[in-house]
Amino acid sequence: NNLFAKSDALRGKRVLITAGGTIERLDPVRYLTNDSSGKMGFALAEAAKLMGADVTLVAGRTSGQAPAGVAVVPVVSAQDMLEAVLDRFDESDIVIKAAAVADYRPVQVHREKLKKTGDRYQLELERTTDILQLLGERKKGQLLVGFAAETEQLDHYAMDKLKRKNCDLIIANDIGMAGAGFNVDTNAVSVFDHNGLVERYPVMPKRELAGRLMAIMAARLASTPF
Ligand code: CTP
Ligand code: CA
Repeated sequence: NNLFAKSDALRGKRVLITAGGTIERLDPVRYLTNDSSGKMGFALAEAAKLMGADVTLVAGRTSGQAPAGVAVVPVVSAQDMLEAVLDRFDESDIVIKAAAVADYRPVQVHREKLKKTGDRYQLELERTTDILQLLGERKKGQLLVGFAAETEQLDHYAMDKLKRKNCDLIIANDIGMAGAGFNVDTNAVSVFDHNGLVERYPVMPKRELAGRLMAIMAARLASTPF
């Protein structure tokens, strides 16, 4: 069974995927971001496209090329990502939040380059909106899929996020494990739904994993009664 083969499993379905890291600006030359490369999101977009879906990728800071035939909406900050996703949420059938969204942003965005003063500098940050949680509150039949990046107690934190954010599936990433997580071409994940563990996958190429994950989502969508 070729995971990269074209199929009609998602024909006529709209899939919205967020990928990459957000950038939270501090001043004209400095910002806060994270190690996400967007590779997992790109791989999911490619797999969904191969299954016949109409795919939109809301992309923060990524490295590499988005897959062909996918509509890309570039965004910078968590707030931009929130707006881009809300604009497209109602018409989506599957929404996958693979992006690494900043949890905090600088309270003040300085218009001029900050000059150094003193031996220590304290930066004040405020929480960003939790996009996934907001979608969980607003969803009307969309299959909502979140990610969880953890370095410890993977299953526990993943289930906690699934419940707190009202997701249908959580894909948990052990970012401490070799060959998993940020900035590499392979990943190892565990998938959970409201009843607990659905599937544990060993380390494999992100493209192959994406095919397997999209197959789970397509099956769930097909069995939803609306
Ligand atoms: N997420 C989001 N908006 C945020 C923060 C996170 O939509 N402001 C989403 C991510 O895209 C991911 C999921 O929430 O799908 C989990 O992200 P993660 O960073 O693992 O969890 P947090 O809830 O932010 O908790 P923490 O970082 O404290 O572990
Ligand atoms: Ca976080």
